[in-house]
Amino acid sequence: MDGGDPFPKTAQPPVMAAEGSTVARAARWLADGELLGMPTETVYGLACHAFDAAAAARVFEAKRRPSFDPLIVHVASTDNAWRMIGEQAAPTTARALADAFWPGPLTQVLPKPAELPRIVTSGLETVGVRVPAHPLAQRLIEALDDLLRERAITKDTAPSRARVGGVAAPSANVFGGVSPTRAEHVAVPCRAVLDGGPCATGVESTVVQPHDDGTVTVLRLGGTTLEQLAEVVGEGNVRVAKPGEKVTSPGMTERHYAPRTPLTLVHRLERLDPASLGNQRVGVLTLTGERGRGMGFAAAEVLSKRGDLVEAAANLFAALHRLDAAGLDRVVAEAVPEEGLGRAINDRLRRASAP
Ligand code: TXA
Ligand code: MG
Repeated sequence: MDGGDPFPKTAQPPVMAAEGSTVARAARWLADGELLGMPTETVYGLACHAFDAAAAARVFEAKRRPSFDPLIVHVASTDNAWRMIGEQAAPTTARALADAFWPGPLTQVLPKPAELPRIVTSGLETVGVRVPAHPLAQRLIEALDDLLRERAITKDTAPSRARVGGVAAPSANVFGGVSPTRAEHVAVPCRAVLDGGPCATGVESTVVQPHDDGTVTVLRLGGTTLEQLAEVVGEGNVRVAKPGEKVTSPGMTERHYAPRTPLTLVHRLERLDPASLGNQRVGVLTLTGERGRGMGFAAAEVLSKRGDLVEAAANLFAALHRLDAAGLDRVVAEAVPEEGLGRAINDRLRRASAP
């Protein structure tokens, strides 16, 4: 460690450009039990070494996340995913999904390796695993992997810690809040944030549980669409879990991904009765900006002028961050078409609007 306070409790951690020896230094911090803001293609994560229970506990603390909500573990490659959970442990469906979507915005709920601390999975016998598609995340996790191997050879590190360079990382927002899609958004205590630029996907990964019978339960909608999943496992084999279902993702909690400003979700903006908003300062969020013009909103965010849902997903959380900073009494958001990434966008907006 570099001396000084190993875990400064600053709300706005320093942002580090990824150059020269930055990645190696960041990997050392992880190996030493510190927390880092890590870019991924979906959203920024609050990263720690997955096999370090104390570091994982600090992630829960920093995010003010309830201990019943498990973290996902990121690995640098599909090979490393199988190395971590054991080659035979993965159902065939999981391998097909890995071939199709890793690296990428898909988290697979798989059997938990015994060595992984229970705190990471909140006591579940399964672990969410993902190979992020961001080059910087991959370099960081690889560097951690190398470092742990080196240390296992030169020092008497516990074998569990040396097993694989897995990085546990929930989204780097305070629990229930808007996820960060830029390094500057990360406002939870950590050593530093590695700057990987704006996140290309912009919504979190899709979380699935693959089953031995070839079917897949979708626990959270996200960056991999239902249409894409169906292409791999077959149309009838994809089922979306209902909120409150028994094997559900704790991240399906009703109010989530929410700005501090109250948010109302409407299906058609023109049906909104302006009188219902009274004298409030209201901001609006729409897909193309066509609607809502001239309705007297104090601020407006457009997700994609050309109505492209991929671009819209990438802009969603940054737009919510800006609206949150605009001193509004309320945000009105209009639902986007319920197809492709639009489903994940509407899911986030619906949860953001939950009371
Ligand atoms: O795109 C992402 O997934 C981002 C980036 C940083 O990788 N991470 C992320 O993590 O969104 P988090 O912790 O905010 O959301 C992970 C979701 C949570 O809803 C959690 O409940 C669910 O995955 N999850 C994790 N492990 C699980 C398990 N074993 N079984 C069921 N759900 C699980
Ligand atoms: Mg999250």
